[in-house]
Amino acid sequence: MYKEYWDLTHKPFENTPDPRFIYYSPQHEEVFSRLLYVIKEGKGAAMLTGVFGCGKTLISRILLKELDSSIYKTVLITNPYLTYEEFLMHICYNLGCKDLPDTKSEVLVNVVLQRLNEALINNMRDGKRTVVIIDEAHVIKDRKVWEEIRLILNFQLEDKFLITLLLLGQPELEEAMDINKQFSQRIAIKGHLGSFDDDDAKKYIRHRLSVAGRDKDLFTEDAYKEIFKKSGGIPRRINNICDLALLSGFGLKTSLIDKDIIKDVSNDLGN
Ligand SMILES: Nc1ncnc2c1ncn2[C@@H]1O[C@H](COP(=O)(O)OP(=O)(O)O)[C@@H](O)[C@H]1O
Ligand SMILES: [Mg+2]
Repeated sequence: MYKEYWDLTHKPFENTPDPRFIYYSPQHEEVFSRLLYVIKEGKGAAMLTGVFGCGKTLISRILLKELDSSIYKTVLITNPYLTYEEFLMHICYNLGCKDLPDTKSEVLVNVVLQRLNEALINNMRDGKRTVVIIDEAHVIKDRKVWEEIRLILNFQLEDKFLITLLLLGQPELEEAMDINKQFSQRIAIKGHLGSFDDDDAKKYIRHRLSVAGRDKDLFTEDAYKEIFKKSGGIPRRINNICDLALLSGFGLKTSLIDKDIIKDVSNDLGN
């Protein structure tokens, strides 16, 4: 709606994990390279925590894009509200396991784990690596699911892990790990994403605008400060404020977005 008015080719502040918009703040850069390292080195598991809206899902999408599909077989679980049978079967289906049971009542966990083990060994023999990413892993409350995840990590051949597991979730995930001590010890790398500082928040906004086709400034200096204050430096909240501010500025036919507009839209958003 406001795209033409602001000279944009795309909407700059959509809350979707679109890799084109990635802004590598120092912490996003570091987390990304650590996770990539865990995958490339074939380590067992890594964990990434951070509050809602700080960029975990976006990072996972970029990792998946980065991995050469002729080498890496990947499974992405985005909604882990699954029973342990469903969880296991989901991974197996996505890895193309053979001879799986047709109905849930037929699922014998040991048999399915065996099939999974075979599929992983076959992948390895074909020169392929297996990566499973579980997004929103903090919602997993079922102890049996954690137990299965731990068993999957046990799959090794001559001291090589057959699978690399990335767990992403909100900070409660850390607590779930504290309970699962045995599991926690297997996590090679733990990363955390926090909010942006004021400088990064500004660079983030400018970066997204530039990807969306606009290099000229669109916010006043005071507006940047206000956005930072109201959003707490969390990308998802910055996006919500900026998107509504562009709409509001378009309605008011202003040439720049100032602090007052940011205050108004933040109030509307309840910030
Ligand atoms: N470093 C970043 N660069 C560009 N956009 C980002 C960045 N971090 C977060 N975002 C954007 O913020 C929004 C929320 O990010 P998301 O990955 O869904 O957060 P989380 O999974 O941690 O809740 C998405 O629109 C995402 O594209
Ligand atoms: Mg997410």
